[in-house]
Amino acid sequence: MKAIVYERYGPPDVLELKEVAKPTPKDNEVLIRIRATTVTSGDWRARSLEMPPGFGLMGRLFFGVSRPRQPILGTELAGEVESVGKDVKTFKVGDQVFAFPGAGMGCYAEYKCMPADGAVALKPANLTYDEAAALSFGGTTALAFFRRAKLQSGETVLVNGASGGVGTAAVQLAKHSGADVTGVCSAANVDLVRSLGASHVIDYTKEDFTKNGKTYDIIVDTVGTAPFSRSKGSLQKRGRLLLVLGGLPDLLQVPWVSLTSRKKVIAGPAVVRAEDLRFLAQLALAGEFRPVIGRRYPFEQIVEAHRYIDTGHKKGNVVITLAHDD
Ligand SMILES: NC(=O)c1ccc[n+]([C@@H]2O[C@H](COP(=O)([O-])OP(=O)(O)OC[C@H]3O[C@@H](n4cnc5c(N)ncnc54)[C@H](OP(=O)(O)O)[C@@H]3O)[C@@H](O)[C@H]2O)c1
Repeated sequence: MKAIVYERYGPPDVLELKEVAKPTPKDNEVLIRIRATTVTSGDWRARSLEMPPGFGLMGRLFFGVSRPRQPILGTELAGEVESVGKDVKTFKVGDQVFAFPGAGMGCYAEYKCMPADGAVALKPANLTYDEAAALSFGGTTALAFFRRAKLQSGETVLVNGASGGVGTAAVQLAKHSGADVTGVCSAANVDLVRSLGASHVIDYTKEDFTKNGKTYDIIVDTVGTAPFSRSKGSLQKRGRLLLVLGGLPDLLQVPWVSLTSRKKVIAGPAVVRAEDLRFLAQLALAGEFRPVIGRRYPFEQIVEAHRYIDTGHKKGNVVITLAHDD
């Protein structure tokens, strides 16, 4: 099968189209013929080894010390089940599915095996493969952080970086939970962020939300520009700061903040549950959540897609489409 392979860390050109062995499903696995995948900030980190401050060594240990341990990137996919292992009862050949191997990666390929009881779910019928491929990365991240923050209906939530992959999901999921949402983005994305459910939008090129005197129950920082030292004054008395992106110094501060104030900082990797995928699919089916697709590229132009990600100004999700011979 065709796959996009990288054997060293670096710029987008390290990605190469190659022929690799097609995987065979184990007894408990499904083999998925991939129709669409995405380029996420996770792929960018694993390719470039650009890590948040203090995580350089940890990044290398995680992804591979001298070269990538997993040579095929791609955290999420949508496609159809081509075959199933003998113990699989929950999926059948032909099922249209989406899946989220996450840090396990391997979706930049024509086929991928997934454990049937893992992060794989039926594709909502009202979403295209392109949209379903982009359901998981931002959606599961936002869900995991809101779960830890115990987001309640009626709370005020500010999303910094509201136009990115995680931000566009966070705005929609906070709105769905009954929150009053403020999105922070640049002028070009104001209409998009409003259309996702934000009642207020702040253009970060014109206004610094940490200096306007307003306070929030929850602040979600997906950009890394709102650490506790800057945003504590914008949190209500029992406010929670969700550091989707935070450096090691921010993480080390977490216990100290809890000891010395009623405010809370929540940081670290999102813990994803397989049921989160089914929940996101239900929301999508009910018209309550729809992944934003900023750009699409064919599989063969994935290097271009990575060049776009490297700008740091990606809008929503970037989808990679795969054409099969049929
Ligand atoms: N903790 C976890 O488990 C976890 C999980 C997933 C992701 N992450 C991390 O979360 C971060 C965000 O991920 P993502 O996928 O959402 O990234 P992304 O899609 O690449 O985010 C790009 C967006 O950020 C916006 N942006 C850039 N500078 C900004 C600023 N100063 N203020 C407000 N918005 C700004 C851009 O808007 P403009 O073009 O308008 O500037 C763009 O739309 C990444 O660093 C990723 O590593 C962590």
